[in-house]
Amino acid sequence: MSRPDRFTGRVALVTGAASGIGQATAVAFAREGARVAILDRTADALQPTAEAVRAAGGEGLVLACDIARPEQVEAAIAETVATFGRLDIAFNNAGIENVAAPVAEIALADWDRILDINLRGTFVCMKHEIAQMLRQGGGVIVNTASGAGIRGVAGGASYAASKHAVIGLTKSAALDYATANIRVNAVLPGNIATPMMDRFTGGDIQKAIDLEPVGRLGRPEEIAEAVLWMSADLGAFVTGAAISVDGGWSL
Ligand code: NAI
Repeated sequence: MSRPDRFTGRVALVTGAASGIGQATAVAFAREGARVAILDRTADALQPTAEAVRAAGGEGLVLACDIARPEQVEAAIAETVATFGRLDIAFNNAGIENVAAPVAEIALADWDRILDINLRGTFVCMKHEIAQMLRQGGGVIVNTASGAGIRGVAGGASYAASKHAVIGLTKSAALDYATANIRVNAVLPGNIATPMMDRFTGGDIQKAIDLEPVGRLGRPEEIAEAVLWMSADLGAFVTGAAISVDGGWSL
């Protein structure tokens, strides 16, 4: 359900906004009144999201940034604040999938690539977002973990380890800032129909549908709904939560 004024006057940053879950969430924030900073690796890739944000009646700021590069993250968050004056909501969603391999066969470079983006990148984003939120007296952070953050995945140890760690990071930050008016939560998607899922299944989507007790993939917009609820004032008593939106996959 869209509530046009829920985020009026708020500033939201969405990472991984060029595609899938991030794109759907950026547009959902714009539709409900937020000014949205959309971050992804290249400005070109962000153009369709920027257009969709405008079409939804929102104001968007395009940020080309690799979250594995701390100096780029710091600059992107500074640009958001310089442009919009504040940062109320941060959806740290950018992430990558692993090359499938059992543990003993995982290449060190692949392990590092997954952890650098999914875990360290999320941490670096939080570090700079929280610094701004402390300066302005509060804010809300939602991190994208995964059902793979609470269960094992055969052939996906690096990805599952990164997403388990994102949940630990989320819970610890929630405790660190519980009295500072900063809430920190995680959303745990199940198998969602996005370009990542297409790459992961090699196009054999039925393989992913078979994992879902409800018998279908989730839609990126269904993750966006949960993120907006956690970010809104109605979610004000929710912090340190890891909320599954996964059709029962993690049960
Ligand atoms: P996607 O691949 O469609 O979109 C991810 C976006 O993140 C892309 O636009 C990509 O360019 C961006 N990104 C990746 N690395 C980046 C970096 N270093 N710096 C800046 N941007 C970067 O993927 P999807 O499915 O929308 O995934 C979003 C998040 O949801 C990820 O964290 C993923 O791990 C998580 N997730 C996805 C699930 C699914 O079934 N699709 C299930 C559970 C979690």
